[in-house]
Amino acid sequence: MLVYLNGRFVDRASASVPIDDRGFLFGDGVYEVLRVVQGRLVEPARHWARLARGLAGLRIRRPDELDDRALGAIAHHLLADNGLTDGEALVYLEITRGAAPRTHHFPPPDTSPTVLMSVGAYAPPHALRERGTAVITVPDQRWARCDLKTINLLPNALAKQLAVDAGVHEAVFVRDGVVTEGSSSNIFALVDGELRTYPASNYILSGITRDVVLDIAGDLGLTVRTFPILAAELPAAEEVFLTSTTNDVMPVTSVDGARIGDGRPGPVTMRLYQAFAAAALHRPSIAV
Ligand code: PDD
Repeated sequence: MLVYLNGRFVDRASASVPIDDRGFLFGDGVYEVLRVVQGRLVEPARHWARLARGLAGLRIRRPDELDDRALGAIAHHLLADNGLTDGEALVYLEITRGAAPRTHHFPPPDTSPTVLMSVGAYAPPHALRERGTAVITVPDQRWARCDLKTINLLPNALAKQLAVDAGVHEAVFVRDGVVTEGSSSNIFALVDGELRTYPASNYILSGITRDVVLDIAGDLGLTVRTFPILAAELPAAEEVFLTSTTNDVMPVTSVDGARIGDGRPGPVTMRLYQAFAAAALHRPSIAV
């Protein structure tokens, strides 16, 4: 398996970063996870735009040669070399501030960022989607810049482990009585016929899937409002679903043990999933 590390394609087993990399020492970096269907990246422009916002937010200088085109080319090279141009795959990209003697403040400006890209085969959770998933709510104890997709994922990892311990699919964060997002997903609820999700702000990572689903929901004529869902409203919602690069649109049929609707994936949720799959995942290539 080949990965891309700092300008070179190297065998995964021999790829390594120095122990004083700031990603390792401080979680000082950003990442992206992209979906790949039949060798085609899903929504690359939106991912690269979010990456650029994250790098700017952390004040990490992107290597000049690593523009959006170059990132796409590296991904395609890795997919081809690793035999992943058929079926489904994921691309993982991480950029840290680089390796330098440990200081809390930034290292010298000539420190090169560390850039890693890897790919892997992916099996979407279709069986789970048919059944619907259970979630638990947990306190949102993260910092106030959740809009940056940083590699600092400790609260998310702790929350996800609580979900695993409880035998459910996802842990959903609640801040001051309001549902923000999942530990690695966004959350929507249909409340009184209105589709709601937390507004894009510093308290959530505005997911690419969330953005596409919001566009699609508007196109389908649904009533949509980016407006907080109270934790108290969630158990009585008509439908609830998660969105993310790895989940697509994932129905939630139980929250903290309370059944949502009739306990089966809801019709609006499944309509949105079908429309999302058609528009984003299986979109035919545009002929030029
Ligand atoms: N996580 N919110 C959080 C906290 C996330 O980590 C993610 C994605 C999302 C959904 O974003 P998107 O639709 O762009 O995937 C929302 C990725 C998949 C991960 O960490 O593996």
